Amino acid sequence: MKNNLSNKVILLTGGATGIGRDCALAYAREGAVVGIVDRNFEEARKTATEAGNNSFAIEADVSNGHAIELAVKALLDRFGRIDAIHNNAGIVGPSRPLHETSEAEWDELQNINLKSVYWTTKYGFEALVASKGTILNTASMVGLLGQQDHAAYVATKGGMISLTKAMAADYGKHGIRVNAVCPAIVWTPMLERWADSQSDPDATRQLFNEMSLLGYTPHGDVISDTAVFLLSDQSRFITGCILPVSGGAEIGYKR
Ligand SMILES: NC(=O)c1ccc[n+]([C@@H]2O[C@H](COP(=O)([O-])OP(=O)(O)OC[C@H]3O[C@@H](n4cnc5c(N)ncnc54)[C@H](O)[C@@H]3O)[C@@H](O)[C@H]2O)c1
Repeated sequence: MKNNLSNKVILLTGGATGIGRDCALAYAREGAVVGIVDRNFEEARKTATEAGNNSFAIEADVSNGHAIELAVKALLDRFGRIDAIHNNAGIVGPSRPLHETSEAEWDELQNINLKSVYWTTKYGFEALVASKGTILNTASMVGLLGQQDHAAYVATKGGMISLTKAMAADYGKHGIRVNAVCPAIVWTPMLERWADSQSDPDATRQLFNEMSLLGYTPHGDVISDTAVFLLSDQSRFITGCILPVSGGAEIGYKR
């Protein structure tokens, strides 16, 4: 443990599995208490137990404003402060162009992936002002680059990237930093499900490996290492930053 997050209290959404789970474990290893807000309570509880350091699970759907209000209150009641909010919960949605996306699919994606940032900010803001805290958003490279057949998902991540910049501009005067991390392809339960849903899952997996300049698809630790940095005082002069953690996938003309 390097104690980069010693005694910090972190509200992390979507921390039960995948990238969020890796972040929860890394934050606790670095000395933080993590409130894991997730609709998958059983897995969130397992992750909180594994993380230790007084971390605990809160059952909540991030698209439900009242549930987020209660989650923020639960952290404040227990620890009296919140130093960071990491908006990580997300769903990937249908593999379809926009005109084939149903209104229900569009609304669900917007509510979970994007409106959730509104709720955590609305209810967590005062606590972050008091702590001069930090917000971190898990966006995606597709929010910068676009992606075929995922317009509704891409819109949520593009929105999150724009929000990150706008919130950084508004909240700097309060000493609150706001940044986003952009994974390209990371092995998680979400990505496994998505690969399996494609017409040729093996070819899809091969394509993933070829996307990065480094020739492999990583696991969530590459994101959690970055997230620890962006929540720690080591990044104290970094705000409004949209950071690719992509193995250089965005560099074109590879061959
Ligand atoms: N895996 C990748 O390659 C990749 C790439 C780019 C961006 N991302 C982003 O990273 C984040 C995490 O994705 P992951 O791959 O770890 O997925 P995952 O499915 O493994 O984990 C997502 C977590 O969010 C929780 N969650 C989903 N909807 C929720 C809701 N409404 N309320 C509360 N919790 C909810 C799930 O229960 C789960 O614990 C997402 O925002 C995703 O868009 C992932």
